[in-house]
Amino acid sequence: MTEYQKKDLLYKGKAKEMFTTNDPDVIWVHYMDQVTAFNGKKKVQMSGKGQTNCKISSLIFQDLANHGITNHFIKQIDSNNMLVKRVKIIELETVVRNFASGSFEKKFACEHLMKFEKPVQEFWFKSDELNDPFINDSQAIALKVANEDQMNQMRAIALKVNDRLKEIFSEMNIDLVDFKVEFGIDSDNQLILADEISPDSCRLVDKTTRKSLDKDVFRKGLGELVPVYEEILKRLENVEEV
Ligand SMILES: Nc1ncnc2c1ncn2[C@@H]1O[C@H](COP(=O)(O)OP(=O)(O)O)[C@@H](O)[C@H]1O
Ligand SMILES: [Mg+2]
Repeated sequence: MTEYQKKDLLYKGKAKEMFTTNDPDVIWVHYMDQVTAFNGKKKVQMSGKGQTNCKISSLIFQDLANHGITNHFIKQIDSNNMLVKRVKIIELETVVRNFASGSFEKKFACEHLMKFEKPVQEFWFKSDELNDPFINDSQAIALKVANEDQMNQMRAIALKVNDRLKEIFSEMNIDLVDFKVEFGIDSDNQLILADEISPDSCRLVDKTTRKSLDKDVFRKGLGELVPVYEEILKRLENVEEV
């Protein structure tokens, strides 16, 4: 159990509910049994999804912290809930790609899962009304979404996350195709990694079968999602050093 008490609902998103606690610097995150795609246009309730993602995210954040990547994770409380450090979210989605997929593949009409020699980095402006448009550094700086130093920090940390995630997933016989992370500013004015890292926010492909093991299963209607997420968790729990 925990000494923290869940207080008021701060924000109900598409996958998580964020609550205040008795500590102003700590947020209670509830991972919901809900999956959405296409900016919420496709939405389904799925039993077991929340707890699987909560566990996967907890294990990954803990591992990243052990590898020197500071992040908001404090601890998992129970199956669907974790405590995190409260941050002021920077309204950007920071994306790293190792293989072509999703919007990149569509925009440039390139071969599906074409391998990149160097990771591709992108920023997207977090705005449901605007449908999360692509944004470059000078645009983000002009809009005061982040300053130049913060843009550089996010880029550098995202590459470190990529290096470690590639290692972990490789041990699981999985190629990390791409992923999205979010950053925030904590009460000490430090920029840290926040939100979640799970098959909702990563594209993962089995090295042998080349099958998707992530939210694309839902986006593309390829089958049941929860067993796929459970398979990711099972393989993750078998990685010795995670
Ligand atoms: N440590 C944190 N402190 C404050 N807000 C956070 C933190 N981590 C994530 N968030 C925000 O909480 C929300 C998480 O809920 P989610 O269901 O993912 O929302 P969304 O539908 O906006 O993606 C997101 O808006 C995310 O930016
Ligand atoms: Mg989200």
